[in-house]
Amino acid sequence: MAGSVGKRGYAARVAEIEPFRVVEVLERATQLAAAGQDIVHMAAGEPDFATAQPIIEAGRAALARGETHYSQAAGIPQLREALSRHYADTYGLDVPPSRIMVTPGASGALLLIAALLMNPGDGMLMTDPGYPCNRHFMRLVEGHGQLVPVGADSNYQLSGELAQQHWQPSTVGAMVASPANPTGTALSREDLAGLSAAVRARGGHLLVDEIYHGLCYEGDAPSVLEVDPDAFVINSFSKYFGMTGWRLGWLVAPEAAVVEMEKLAQNLFISMSTMAQHAALAGFEPATREILEERRDVFRQRRDYLLPAVQELGFAVPCKPQGAFYIYADASRFTDDSQAFCLRLLEENGVALTPGLDFGHHRANEHLRFSYTTSMERLEVAVERLDSVLRGANA
Ligand SMILES: Cc1ncc(COP(=O)(O)O)c(C=O)c1O
Repeated sequence: MAGSVGKRGYAARVAEIEPFRVVEVLERATQLAAAGQDIVHMAAGEPDFATAQPIIEAGRAALARGETHYSQAAGIPQLREALSRHYADTYGLDVPPSRIMVTPGASGALLLIAALLMNPGDGMLMTDPGYPCNRHFMRLVEGHGQLVPVGADSNYQLSGELAQQHWQPSTVGAMVASPANPTGTALSREDLAGLSAAVRARGGHLLVDEIYHGLCYEGDAPSVLEVDPDAFVINSFSKYFGMTGWRLGWLVAPEAAVVEMEKLAQNLFISMSTMAQHAALAGFEPATREILEERRDVFRQRRDYLLPAVQELGFAVPCKPQGAFYIYADASRFTDDSQAFCLRLLEENGVALTPGLDFGHHRANEHLRFSYTTSMERLEVAVERLDSVLRGANA
């Protein structure tokens, strides 16, 4: 058994969980930077801003007060209450704290939900392209991601019709992200209602990853809870709140499911970082919200600059990204090997991008993801450099 140690080797699931392809690009970028080359980083899936100062100060104060012990497995009550108010203020929804669990990132929420819902052999519908870890979480609990190839005709999202078309006897539900990684496309209230109806008609579960809420540039994205109170919602302090390294997220679930997931959380994590939870409370203060809203505007400005620039370079972006900080570009005019193409753009132009292969299989070799998680000045440098190399190919 290749890559195994000892007589019995490793579990079969390990071979089916793929590494991030972009790591090869990032490692090469580090080597090139060490050798003196200037690299424009457009591969990161996290905000370039440091965590907002009031959150950092609240974290410091929590440490000074001695908040260094385990907390409740579902999160500290103050944070669950703050999140409940967040649903009331942002969406006009009544979501009691008892339906909200704080988790170690959205990643922790995804793991809990996968563990709750999947039996061996079960399938979960999800988009291809999509966030790659989703199918790996399903595999970890002996289920699998049922990848549905999506393109511009469905805004790179699952629809009620697609769910119906791809539903199998082993399917237990469907999951989407809105806005999505890598495409930035979002689902409208009607889209969510259509998907929910299709899933409900088959007795399935609907999971919506709302991690990029707050980072929408065409009006706010609706929460699935507005149309389906029984849906599972995944969210996080990583993106809008700019707290990737603090490892804090949350989920909203039907009341009975929370009881079961609390049991799982006790066993899997015991608790989240207590200090991080106290820090996150500051994320809801008006002074912090002001900083976060300014940052959202900066991301919007970057998108508004980068989207037409990428299209002028010769990439096709058929659906306008409505949120997140990504542009998923069709590079078929230039390549059918997105990994090699990314490495070439890095070597020759010092621009680090993410190959489409990181997001699934469907036309993945013809796509790249641009992250606008760097300053406008650096985006301009990247566009200038790409223009010089791609102009010949465009001609
Ligand atoms: C769609 C999506 N879901 C979940 C995550 C995981 O986020 P975290 O665990 O940092 O909250 C990411 C991270 O990039 C993401 O893009």
